[in-house]
Amino acid sequence: METGETEGRARPRAKESYTTRRTFAIISHPDAGKTTLTEKLLLTGGAIEMAGAVRAKGNKARAKSDWMNIERDRGISVTSSVMTFEKDGINFNLLDTPGHSDFSEDTYRTLTAVDSAIMVIDAAKGIEGQTRKLFEICRLRDIPIITFVNKIDREGRDPFELLDEIEEQLAMDVAPMIWPVGQGGLFKGCYDLKRNDFIAAKTHETTHYEGGLDDPALKARLGEATHDGFREAAELALEGYADFDAAAYRDGHLTPVIFGSALENFAVDRLMDLIAAHAPEPRPQPSDKGPVDPSGEKVSGFVFKVQANMDPKHRDRVAFVRFCSGHFKRGMKLDHVRSGKAIAVSNPIYFVAQERSLTEEAYAGDVIGIPNHGTLQVGDTLTEGESFRFTGLPAFAPEVLRRVRLEDTMKMKQLRRGLEDLAQEGLVQVFRPTFGSDWIVGVVGPLQLDVLASRISGEYKADVTFEPVQYNVARWIRCSNEQTLKQFIKDNATQVVRDRDDRPVYLCRDDWDLRYVMDRNKDIAFDATREIV
Ligand code: G4P
Repeated sequence: METGETEGRARPRAKESYTTRRTFAIISHPDAGKTTLTEKLLLTGGAIEMAGAVRAKGNKARAKSDWMNIERDRGISVTSSVMTFEKDGINFNLLDTPGHSDFSEDTYRTLTAVDSAIMVIDAAKGIEGQTRKLFEICRLRDIPIITFVNKIDREGRDPFELLDEIEEQLAMDVAPMIWPVGQGGLFKGCYDLKRNDFIAAKTHETTHYEGGLDDPALKARLGEATHDGFREAAELALEGYADFDAAAYRDGHLTPVIFGSALENFAVDRLMDLIAAHAPEPRPQPSDKGPVDPSGEKVSGFVFKVQANMDPKHRDRVAFVRFCSGHFKRGMKLDHVRSGKAIAVSNPIYFVAQERSLTEEAYAGDVIGIPNHGTLQVGDTLTEGESFRFTGLPAFAPEVLRRVRLEDTMKMKQLRRGLEDLAQEGLVQVFRPTFGSDWIVGVVGPLQLDVLASRISGEYKADVTFEPVQYNVARWIRCSNEQTLKQFIKDNATQVVRDRDDRPVYLCRDDWDLRYVMDRNKDIAFDATREIV
C-alpha cells in the first residue's frame, strides 16, 4: 500500500452529517500548553489511551539546536497535522498549527480551514506575542474563540487581571465560565459558574451544588475562609463581565473563558462540552461563485496544506483537503479544477494521534490527506463536476530574503527538487533572478531558514548556506497595461525576480525605496499579498 496506513476502517462517527463536525485549531504562544492540551483532548475523546502518546517532540526542546532536530520538531506537526476523534456524537477535527514562534504562512492557511479556535494562555504570562498575531488572523476571518487560561495549578496572575487584559487587548467581551478556587499551592479545584459544579483538585471529583455559590454544602466543603474569598470573587466575576451569549461568541464579539490545567486534565472535558454545544458547525466557505454551503449535495473542498516526505520511505506528498460540502466516499472521482482533470481519490487518509488510516467517507468540515506525487497544490479546489474555485488563501510577501549557496554543485538537481517541494508546502518562497543562476529564497520568519537548510540536508541530501542579498522588501507587481509592466521589468531587470508561478516580483532595499519606486510608477500595483490560485 502506497501510504503505509493501517487497513481501512470506518471513520468514527455518529450522525452521518456535517452538523456534528467541529473543526478547530488551538492558537497559543510556545510553551503555553498547546501540546499538553491537545493530548488531553485526545485522551478525553478516547483517541489515545494514555498521556504521553502525542509528545513525540520530547519535552522542552525549545533550544534552537533542539528545535532544529527535525524528527523531534515534526513529531506533532507532521504526523498529527489533523487529529480526528469522536465524543458523544460529535466529530472533532483538531487541526495542528506549527508550534514555533515564527509567523508562518502554513499557520495562516491552516486557520482558513477551521470554523473556530481555542486560545490557550499561560496564567502566569497572559497574552503573548504569538497569541496576539494568531488572534488577529482569527479576527480577520471572523473565527470565534474560546479562551483556555492554562496552568492554574501553579502560581499565576490574578484572574481578574487576566480577564481585563483579554478584554482590553483583544477588544472583545469576556464571559467567565469556569472559575478557579484558589491558585498555585492553594489550588482547590474549579467551579463551573454555569452549571454550579465544583470539580475538586487532584481527585477530579465533581459535585453539583443546587444552591449555587451560597450552598451551605459548598461552604462546608471548602471551609469558611476559602469559601468566602471564592464566593466574593465568583460573584464579582459574574457581575463584572458579560454573560455567555452563544450568538455573540459565534459572531466573534465575545470569548467564553475557562480557567483550567491541561497538565492536570482539569476542565478539559468542560472545554470539549463547550465546543460540542456552541462552537460553530462547518460554515459556508468563500468561493468565486459565492459562499459554498455545507449542506450542498455535491462534494467540494480545498487544499490548505501540502506536506512532502511524510513517510521518508515513500517520498510521498500528502495534500490536506478540507471538505466544504457534500458526502465524500472513498474511490470517488473529483475534478481538480486547476488542471481540469479528474482524480480518483482511492487512498484518502485520516489521522488519529500518530496513526493514519484509510477513511471511507467524509462530510463538510472533515479533513483528509490525499497522497499524491505533486498534482495537488495549496489553494487547489476539488469538486464533483463543478468548475468554481475556493478563494481567500493568501500568500504573503517575504520579509527575509537570502541567496542560496550550494556546498556541492553536483547536487543541483536535489536542491531544485527540495526547493520546489518545500515551496509547495509553503515553508519558503523561491525566486529565480533574471540574471544569475542562484535561487533566492524568501521567508516571513527567519527561523524558517533553519528549517529549510535542515530539511534540504536531511531529506534531499544537499547542504546549503544562505547569503544576505541587498534586498529586504519583495512585492508582486502587476499592471493593467502589459506594455508598461514589460518596460518596468526591462528597466529594473536586476531587481525583478520570478516566483514559482512565474509571476514577476520586485525586490528593493527598504520601505523608503519601495515608496520612491511606487511614486514614480503609479500605474503599477505593488502587492504585499496575493491570493493563491
Ligand atoms: P506548547 O505545546 O504550547 O509549546 O506547550 P507544552 O504543552 O509543551 O507545555 C509547555 C510546558 O508547560 C511543559 O513543561 C508542560 O508540561 C507545561 N504545562 C502544560 N500545561 C500545564 C499545566 O496545566 N500546568 C502546569 N503546571 N504545567 C503545564 P516542560 O517542563 O516544558 O515539559 P515537560 O517536562 O513537562 O514535558
